[in-house]
Amino acid sequence: MTVTAIIGAQWGDEGKGKLTHLLSADHDIVLRYQGGANAGHTIKDGDKTYRCRLVPSGVLREGVRGLLCDGVVVNPVSLAEELAELRTAGGLRGSLQISRHAHLVLPYHGLQDAFFEQAKGGGALGTTLRGIGPAYADKYFRVGLRAGDMLRPDFGERMKQAARRKNVLFSGYYGQAEEDPDAMWEKVQPAVEQLAPLVADTLALVRTAIRQRERILCEGAQGTLLDIDYGTYPYVTSSHPVSGGAFTGTGINWRDMNSVIGVAKAYCTRVGAGPFPTELPDEIGDMLRERGGEFGTVTGRSRRCGWLDLPLLRYSAELNGFTELALTKVDVLDELDEIPVCVAWEINGQKTEWPDLDIEALEQARPVYKRLPGWQANTCGHRGMADLPQRLKDYVRFIEDFVGVPVRMISVGAETGATVVGA
Ligand code: IMP
Repeated sequence: MTVTAIIGAQWGDEGKGKLTHLLSADHDIVLRYQGGANAGHTIKDGDKTYRCRLVPSGVLREGVRGLLCDGVVVNPVSLAEELAELRTAGGLRGSLQISRHAHLVLPYHGLQDAFFEQAKGGGALGTTLRGIGPAYADKYFRVGLRAGDMLRPDFGERMKQAARRKNVLFSGYYGQAEEDPDAMWEKVQPAVEQLAPLVADTLALVRTAIRQRERILCEGAQGTLLDIDYGTYPYVTSSHPVSGGAFTGTGINWRDMNSVIGVAKAYCTRVGAGPFPTELPDEIGDMLRERGGEFGTVTGRSRRCGWLDLPLLRYSAELNGFTELALTKVDVLDELDEIPVCVAWEINGQKTEWPDLDIEALEQARPVYKRLPGWQANTCGHRGMADLPQRLKDYVRFIEDFVGVPVRMISVGAETGATVVGA
């Protein structure tokens, strides 16, 4: 096994950071292939808690190389801050390099994100306001600045030129005051100077590592149902969290990939707007939020909570080619006497097990539940599959049979060690 991908199977926040940290102990390189500082991975290591937004979680380990590859968008200011925070906390133990092709998120992208959300009013997407969508839009409009541009002597001038163009849009279209490009550059320049030496040809590094059979872990951010093409469009992020994104975003190809781990919570959460058929906008949802600590790492927003949606999980499994599943936050369900799981959707009176992610269909979708008996036992101390409560084993078996993928890891607490592996 040399190349493994860890992918969010739902709407993000499934606990990928913790599992990446756990698995990074057996890997040489951990790379990010999409997204930016909109991600928030919380890692509890002993008595320390680290929060990674853009940095691959693996760099918390000595000797591990972290790569931000081509498909990622890099905000130099927030990356410099993140590195400084991790360094101060004693967490930065590995190294980091940034693809010269990774597009930059610059201050005007954050403004554009906010203006766009404001202009949409009630129809706002509820983005993280990190400028992710506008940065990817510039990339596809072929006007973006890339990490490699930070090495050019005229980078400051190029950035200011781009800021002036955005000002035309901001004042003309959104009716906003113009921002001073010089002030923007003053803010960005120190970060650019700090990060420029980290810029590299990550494709060459990845291909060399594969030739040398180094062990590579691809760390997905967000989740499958937020994929720009395969998610609940338009309530999605602007990149490809699915396994296909790991290929286009890094230069790894499908023949290199050995395993694709889908990470799913034992229930579902979603941050921001958009359809969520199994959502529980009631006291049960509040209970899941409280017990699961369902508040965003990046924005602090409350996460919407609901029951596990198996048709959606199977959709994710097929789309990504999961070779195994990791089931997280199982301990949050410990006290329940029964646990409903969605086994089909009813759309306009028609029952279907294959979810239709078209927005109109999703809004009509009514979940059909099967109620499984709860295990009503404290799972926090469990580390071996054999001694898990029988009802939990039955619950896991039900999921495996429905989705058609084995569950090989069960997470029963926030600490890295609180994981049942080899299930
Ligand atoms: P954006 O990625 O900031 O453009 O936000 C688009 C949508 O993706 C919003 O609903 C966000 O709440 C959601 N989103 C972005 N990043 C994450 C994440 O890391 N976890 C969960 N949701 C996310």
